[in-house]
Formats: sequence, C-alpha cells, structure tokens
Amino acid sequence: MSVTNKYSIILGIESSCDDTSAAIIKNEEILSNVIASQDVHTKYGGVVPELASRAHQQNIVPVVDTALKQAGITKNELTAIAYTQGPGLLGSLLVGTSFAKSMAMGLNIPLIDVNHMQGHILAHFIQKKEDHKPTPNFPFICLTVSGGHTQIVLVKAHLSMELIGETIDDAAGEAFDKAAKLLGLPYPGGPLVDKLSKAGDAAKFTFTFPKVGEFNYSFSGLKTQFLYFLQKEEKLNDKFIQQNLNDICASYQEHIVNYLFIKLKKAVTHYKVKDVAIAGGVSANSCLRKKLAKTGKQEGWNTFIPEFEYCTDNAAMIAITGFYKLEKGDVSNQSTTPSARMKF
Ligand code: KG4
Ligand code: ZN
Repeated sequence: MSVTNKYSIILGIESSCDDTSAAIIKNEEILSNVIASQDVHTKYGGVVPELASRAHQQNIVPVVDTALKQAGITKNELTAIAYTQGPGLLGSLLVGTSFAKSMAMGLNIPLIDVNHMQGHILAHFIQKKEDHKPTPNFPFICLTVSGGHTQIVLVKAHLSMELIGETIDDAAGEAFDKAAKLLGLPYPGGPLVDKLSKAGDAAKFTFTFPKVGEFNYSFSGLKTQFLYFLQKEEKLNDKFIQQNLNDICASYQEHIVNYLFIKLKKAVTHYKVKDVAIAGGVSANSCLRKKLAKTGKQEGWNTFIPEFEYCTDNAAMIAITGFYKLEKGDVSNQSTTPSARMKF
C-alpha cells in the first residue's frame, strides 16, 4: 500500500491494440474500468490497424466519460493522467496519446507514460474496496502471455523489471488465434479454443516442442506443425475437424500450456523465487490457470493470477502503473510520443 496519507486519483487510458479502455484508480483502489471492444475485426480474422485507429477515435470520448461517471468523480478531481505509450499499433497508440496529452494540458495536471507490458504485470496490485487481496512479494517471476508478447520477467520492485526470456517469433496468443483460424473459428480464437477444450480429450493428439535458448520460446514452428497435422488428417477424413474439434482444441491448448511451463519452471528454479505470477490476455485461459495452481502446490510456490477482467487489455493496469510512477515523481511532458516497439 502507499506510504503517503494523501491519495491520488488517476485516469488511465489504454489504446494499444483493439480495446479502447479508461479507468479511474484512487491510489491502488479501482473506482471504474470501462472497456469498449471492437467487433469490426472479427470478419477479417485479425486486427486491421487502420480500422482499430478509427474505432479508438470514435470510442475514446464516451469511454473516458463513462469511466468518470462510474467512478463518481469529475475531471477536475483528477490528480494525473496515465496512458499507454507502447508497445502496440502505432495508429492506435496515437489516439490514446493525443487524447491524454490534450486532457492533461487542459486540466494542467501531470501526464504519465506507461509501458503496456509493465501494466499487465502490475495488474496484480489492483485492489477492490470491499475485498483486499494478497499481492506477490518481490522478487517474483511473472509469465506475461498476450496476443503480441510472451515474456518471462523477474520483477524486483513495482518499477524494476528484468526481461529474462521471451518468444523469438510469434506470441502464445497468436499460437491460439492462428490455430483457431485454421479450425474455422472467428477472431480472437483463444477464448473459443479454451471453451471448446472443456469437452475435449487433451491426450488425444500430440505435438512436439521446439528447441530454443534457455528461457526463450518459439511458437511459429508449432503453428506450421498444427497446419500439417490438419492437412494430413483431412486427407484421410474430410470431416476430421468437425468430428474432432473439442479433442483438437484440448490437445493443442494443453501442449501450449505445458510448453509455457517447461520454461517457467526452469526460470523459477534458476532465480530461486517463491512467488510466481501470470499476466496478459492468455492468462485468462482456464487450462493455464489450473496448471499454475497445480504446479504451485507441487513446487511450493505462492501463485498469483489477476482477476479475469484485468487479464486482457484494460486501463486499470495502466492507471495503477501511473500511480506507482507518480509516487516516484516519474512523470512525462507534452513532447512525449508513442513507441510501437517499446522495451522495459
Ligand atoms: O493482453 P491481450 O488482451 O492483448 C494483447 O496485448 O495482445 O491478449 C489478447 C490475446 C489474444 O491472442 C486472445 O486470443 C488471448 O489473449 N486470449 C486467450 C484467452 N482469452 C484471451 N487465449 C487463450 N485462452 C483464453 N481464455
Ligand atoms: Zn496486452
């Protein structure tokens, strides 16, 4: 918790990909978190950057307005505005950046730029008024798995993070989404693969693990392996997907989760940490959540999973990161620009 008695009320703005979100946080306590998702991409089987930017432009004012109303505060009560500087789609980031800069300038309050990946990790510290939950102790390891990233991060303090492993090509979320597309499922396929897996046999089909450096991942080979597997089976039976959809999803999902855990376990052992967390959109996956709980029990880890609504992209995680940065006086200025490939 904050060491100061004074509280800060921060507006967070997230627009890095295809969700326009605004949230209000009072120190670490969430007051509102509004997310407008963009259905326009479904029929294209993936996010179309140009359409995402336009949708952000349409959504941003109503989303911020709703977040303020739901929090029961006026814009004049805001202490600062935190926004996602990157990484993400440049056109999408520009909408949030321009809006945050203008609003901060109009209200004459600090502007704070936030790294989206740091935000995913700090989502673990968001508290609800009625229900304070335990948070990870430093240092801890966080596996951040999203549509754009797969990272193993050593978290030494709120704002001190070291990237110790990452994917060298596709992200885990992409591995879900691309396989789902091959199965004829709409974008984003990850949640649907998760849902269909519930009625499937995860031991029915097997895949192999790619070989890459110590704590790194590779998912592009798995996508090709999955494509060849479907092509081979469909040659023998043209109704293969239809007749085996649940088993295919369950087997593929378990394979991804097992692969994620091979490297995660290695990293936890190597860095001798006791607290282990997952974050990012794929941490909403039920198989991954169960595996973390089970492995944690076996290995004696304290495990942490963000609340469901703070797993996928949201502005609450941007607002809480803004809070920690404000506490340290780490604020930005009007010359700030978005960064599509931002690192820690
Ligand atoms: O963090 P996020 O909302 O956006 C990015 O920063 O990328 O993550 C989105 C990704 C998508 O690939 C989506 O398919 C995946 O998270 N995802 C899931 C589940 N829910 C979201 N993947 C597997 N199982 C889920 N339940
Ligand atoms: Zn994300």
